[in-house]
Amino acid sequence: MLKIKADNLTNHPFTTVILNWYAQNKRSLPWREQRNPYLIWLSEIILQQTRIAQGLPYYQRFVRAYPDVHRLAAASADEVLRLWQGLGYYSRARNLHKCAQIVAVQHHGHFPDNMAALRTLPGIGPYTAAAIASLAFNEAVPAIDGNVYRVLARYFGDETDITSAGAFKHFYQLSLAVLDKGRPGDYNQALMDFGALFCTPRQPDCRQCVLQSGCVAFATNRQQVLPVKSKKAKIRERNFYYVFMLYKDKVLMRQRPAGDIWQGLYEPVLIEHDRSQAFGQLQHPLLDMLHQQGLKITWQEKNIRHLLSHQLLNVNFALVSLGGQETLATRMATGAYHWYALSAVEALPKPVLIANYLDTRVNSINLQ
Ligand code: ADE
Ligand code: SF4
Repeated sequence: MLKIKADNLTNHPFTTVILNWYAQNKRSLPWREQRNPYLIWLSEIILQQTRIAQGLPYYQRFVRAYPDVHRLAAASADEVLRLWQGLGYYSRARNLHKCAQIVAVQHHGHFPDNMAALRTLPGIGPYTAAAIASLAFNEAVPAIDGNVYRVLARYFGDETDITSAGAFKHFYQLSLAVLDKGRPGDYNQALMDFGALFCTPRQPDCRQCVLQSGCVAFATNRQQVLPVKSKKAKIRERNFYYVFMLYKDKVLMRQRPAGDIWQGLYEPVLIEHDRSQAFGQLQHPLLDMLHQQGLKITWQEKNIRHLLSHQLLNVNFALVSLGGQETLATRMATGAYHWYALSAVEALPKPVLIANYLDTRVNSINLQ
């Protein structure tokens, strides 16, 4: 297996070429115009596992709502999650909020100015710490993410398995060896842009690529083999059955607990089952209450398949109106479930598929 030795690579053509390319082609992005650590941090948290086109509008909304770290720290957790709605990986939003509070209070509003100290804050891993330290404080540290693995593995023909335990350290050393110590922020962002625009996962644009003449993957036609990735993430399939219980202008919802997807988001009554289309077999105390009152549930047969990073959800919906049954409504508000006025539900953070269903089905029915 070819592993590149990561020493004595200063002024490598890789670095010179990619920095020249960046100088002429860098994307114009709002956090690149200045060195405000708060804005750089915000952009990096939003852009983890997210494309620029998707993240940019969120970045703009967050900056408008919270122009500095104190404003973000003072917001409520629900408000931050609501603004994050639709971006996914919601632990990022919860950590964003926690981190803002720590920086505001313990660091008096100033982000730590180096990678090691940034690393100790919630939501800031090695990649984000290096990105912030290099972009905002000019620290000569390489930011290593999936894009960087790909560009380096291909260019250098490096066969290190990116799912192996030592991969991060190896590519960190390699990138550190070629990094421009005077312009670490430009170097890191050059790799990010390059990986996003040219050296893309499936169809890299090698014909137009300025790194082509030095690229080992191109010379040996191994763009599809590099980077080496042995383990594939397993996808877990789950079946979610959501029942929107309506009573007058209210809907029964709960805030999702810790330890599962969508922590802190609000959802209607959820029944999970190990089979799909298992409408007749669903069991839940709230369903028993409905049945005892002679109320029937009609499931919408069309299921929605919702793909998350490591889970595939099969989701079915049903809508049940309790009519005027006040006693039943009162009994149903048990455990974490409470009645929320539909007019207040808009402001709660929710999984996008719940928000969509509310918009298209529930609210339209209620307006009739
Ligand atoms: N992805 C994450 N951070 C980025 C940045 N600063 N520039 C471009 N793409 C990014
Ligand atoms: Fe990537 Fe192709 Fe350029 Fe090599 S030549 S760096 S594989 S885009």
